Amino acid sequence: MVAAGQSAVVVGTGGVGLSIIMGLNLVGATPIIAVDLSEEKLAIAKRFGATHTVTAGPTTEQTIREITGGGADYAFEAIGRKETIESLPGLLVRGGTAVLVGLPPADETINFDGLALAEGGIRIVGSNYGSTVPGRDFPRLAELYLAGKLPVDELISDRISLDDVNEAFDAMRRGERARSVIVF
Ligand SMILES: NC(=O)c1ccc[n+]([C@@H]2O[C@H](COP(=O)([O-])OP(=O)(O)OC[C@H]3O[C@@H](n4cnc5c(N)ncnc54)[C@H](O)[C@@H]3O)[C@@H](O)[C@H]2O)c1
Repeated sequence: MVAAGQSAVVVGTGGVGLSIIMGLNLVGATPIIAVDLSEEKLAIAKRFGATHTVTAGPTTEQTIREITGGGADYAFEAIGRKETIESLPGLLVRGGTAVLVGLPPADETINFDGLALAEGGIRIVGSNYGSTVPGRDFPRLAELYLAGKLPVDELISDRISLDDVNEAFDAMRRGERARSVIVF
């Protein structure tokens, strides 16, 4: 749904956010702006094709507006936090689309300003596993990988043994590494 030349911001660049950036890069979105608290994740996001990186903070919205000249065409949330989900419309240009990818806790209620959504023509959509149709999309994704256009291997920061799983969880909670894979 994102077209070449459209702008996109991805809030949260863990394994899921990095995969979104991979897809945005593939379709030629520009600029692609990565937002995260972790400098390490932002450095990885650059390798996946982010054209700009923004350290999350109180000036995030203003920075996105400056980079995009008024707001992004698409804003993805890939954390699952109420506050960052609710921040998406503020990152968008008139007519832009907020894509909810992160999964908030089941009992969480997300609030949006209805007037601002209506006046701005903002769309809010959810996406589960990229809204993939496996029979159609998996062969395509495999072909893109084999053609070197989907750097999935880069998502693996570490290959660990089962004994190292607690340390890997701690690193994940600190916002370090993209993905650790247990090799049995
Ligand atoms: N919709 C789907 O298809 C789907 C599929 C799998 C996972 N998920 C969900 O996607 C979300 C992300 O999963 P993940 O595996 O990438 O998680 P992760 O922990 O690897 O990444 C989360 C990232 O968010 C960053 N972050 C945390 N707080 C932040 C803040 N306030 N501002 C900016 N960045 C912040 C962290 O530094 C980290 O890089 C989770 O909610 C997960 O349940 C959704």
